[in-house]
Parts: sequence; C-alpha cells; structure tokens
Amino acid sequence: MPLVIIPQGLTEMTGPIFGQDAVGKYDHDLTKNAVGSREPHGERIIVAGTVQDEDGNPIPDILLEIWQPNAAGRYNHADDQHDAPLDPNFLGAGRCVTDHRGRYRFITIKPGAYPWGNHYNAWRPSHIHFSLFGPSIMTRLVTQMYFLGDPLLELDPIYNSVPEAARNLLVAKLSMQISKSDWALGYEFNIHLRGRNATPMES
Ligand SMILES: [Fe+2]
Repeated sequence: MPLVIIPQGLTEMTGPIFGQDAVGKYDHDLTKNAVGSREPHGERIIVAGTVQDEDGNPIPDILLEIWQPNAAGRYNHADDQHDAPLDPNFLGAGRCVTDHRGRYRFITIKPGAYPWGNHYNAWRPSHIHFSLFGPSIMTRLVTQMYFLGDPLLELDPIYNSVPEAARNLLVAKLSMQISKSDWALGYEFNIHLRGRNATPMES
C-alpha cells in the first residue's frame, strides 16, 4: 500500500506569533530572573546563536524557552530530590525571542551534572533543555544542548540515542566572540528547525 500524503492545512501551517513584546526585560537572564536578589552560585556563561530554516535563512520571532539545573546539578522542581543544594537566586528557566536576524542570547549559570537513576552510577552530562515555538506548529522543537568535551557525553544513553552523525548538532562550542572579557565565557549553539541538518529533537 502506498503511503497516503495528508495535505497540511491551516492548523499545521499557522501558529502563535511572538514578537519582542512577548518577553520581559530579564527573561533571557537566568542570573537575574529569580526571586532572590543576589547573583546565583556557579560559573556565569552566555549561550547564543541563530535559529535557521533548512536553507540557512535566519528565522525571526521564534520563542525560545530553556530550563536547566543549577550549578550543583539540582532542578528547582518538587520532583527533583537530588541531594544537592537549591539556589534561592536561581530559578533555572528563561525565555527570549529571536531578533530580525534570527539571533538569540541567554545569560545563565553552567549547569551541573546530576544522577538520574537510569542505571548504576548514571549521571547526565551538563545540559540545557530548549523548547522553540516557530511560526507554525511544524516548527516546534524540544531538544537538549550539551557542552563540547564533556567526558560524560560518551556514557549518556540519551545523547547516544541520537544518530552519531547528528550528535555534534547538539553540542555547543566555546566562542570567544560570544564571550565577554572579564565577565563570562560564551558558547555558540545554532539551531536548524528543519531540513537535512535539522537539530535532533525529542518531540
Ligand atoms: Fe535535564
């Protein structure tokens, strides 16, 4: 039986439209958007990049949301009972909207590794969860960003569930252009919503 192609209707090809007004001034800065009034513990980092379509064209007005554990490897969530301290100055979630050149930028704390009970001595590599809402429901993306050179990557079943050739699409690279002298190291993480080099997604 040949596959039946279902034409994409208005429901698939449209979606919510986000603009710069959709986010607050500090929503992209996880070192400032918590209820505490001090700087969170840990290594401050900048994570930035562009969101592109399959042809490499930048996509503006994409809503990016991120969530992550704190520097000690603990999420600010009731389900996370890892024996590591919470940080009252770190919520671990933020969001921003890509500008007219498809660029985004977050300021955050380098996430710690954490145990996850999948098997004996199982630890997740440092990672940041990303969710993107594109201009249509066809461009929703949920994925995880990792750090180049993390020795836990080769031991991680989630990272290794991605086809080998595509794994590097999930790994942020140190960038001295994004880094800010005397303030924070920067990491570049570009995201491709569709196409042959699409960023591997969870859903
Ligand atoms: Fe996680």
